[in-house]
Amino acid sequence: MSEFALLISPSARAAYFADTQEVVLAEIAGLADVDVSGHEARGGMSFLRLTAEPEKACDILRLSFAQGLFQVDGDNWQPIECGAGFGLHEDFVYGEKYRGKTNETLTRLLINIALQEADTNNEKLRLLDPMCGRGTSLFWAMRFGISANGIEKDQTVLNEVRRGLKKWTKLHRQKHKLVDGWVQKSNKKGVGKFLDFMAEGQVARLVIGDTVNACDLAGRKPFDLIVTDIPYGVQHMGGADGARSPIDVIQAAAPGWAACLAPGGAMAIAYNQNIPRRPAMVAAFDGLGLEVIDRNVAHRMSESILRDVLVLRKPR
Ligand SMILES: C[S@@+](CC[C@H](N)C(=O)[O-])C[C@H]1O[C@@H](n2cnc3c(N)ncnc32)[C@H](O)[C@@H]1O
Repeated sequence: MSEFALLISPSARAAYFADTQEVVLAEIAGLADVDVSGHEARGGMSFLRLTAEPEKACDILRLSFAQGLFQVDGDNWQPIECGAGFGLHEDFVYGEKYRGKTNETLTRLLINIALQEADTNNEKLRLLDPMCGRGTSLFWAMRFGISANGIEKDQTVLNEVRRGLKKWTKLHRQKHKLVDGWVQKSNKKGVGKFLDFMAEGQVARLVIGDTVNACDLAGRKPFDLIVTDIPYGVQHMGGADGARSPIDVIQAAAPGWAACLAPGGAMAIAYNQNIPRRPAMVAAFDGLGLEVIDRNVAHRMSESILRDVLVLRKPR
């Protein structure tokens, strides 16, 4: 075992606000064989002190709040050079800024929690984001070395995503392939239209359609991880019915999402605990053969948004 000091990124505070410390501890608690001994402030920076085997360094650096890791030997702190080993340039995740984008740090947290809870035994993991917007989770998944599918009802995202990918692939000379197609017969509403982005041995596919039909849109092969950030209220719902709570969509979609999950697979769903309440979210997945995992990473974003994450697993 070695002693480490883990530098907490200032971006964690921008994601988790006043609850940063609790979220940080809850996320690292999901990593096996890492013992946290406490916090330490040095030079205006905030560190977590921990003990772990040196081989754990890469996993530790993948935590959503990690900025750097130091091996501690008394007062001598040596930076660990191995890095988090992410693929693709970070601009594929952070580069695009748009209204309704999920915080990049929160998205990384969702993927980490799902990875910590999943136990599918599959060597090549696959991730589904059934409400993927412009694909923050899909490109994060690729950086983690995971292929991903996303479903989004707004067909305008395809052009936006294509435009962004063309920009970042050109700027970073990233070898890639972009392929357009349909998972079903072409139609004016764009349902079933997809864009594949292939790079670094992974594929991210963004398909247009209603998440209620996730299984038809995402294909038959089950996913190890389902990660999503559902709409927080009126600003993201945008439905013609003016619906404010996303709970109706979640209730209708839950059976399909559960069916898309492989045995041993895990879901991490971010939502605003004010709409819907946690019991309603849990009830939406009741009777679908999933177990609720007790992970508390709730954090207040604003007066009206208390962001929480519901974690579920399909037993093997
Ligand atoms: C919070 S946003 C996700 C943002 C995304 N993570 C990103 O960073 O771009 C929720 C998304 O769910 C989509 N959505 C809402 N209802 C849907 C449905 N029935 N089927 C598919 N997507 C839906 C919305 O259009 C919105 O893009």
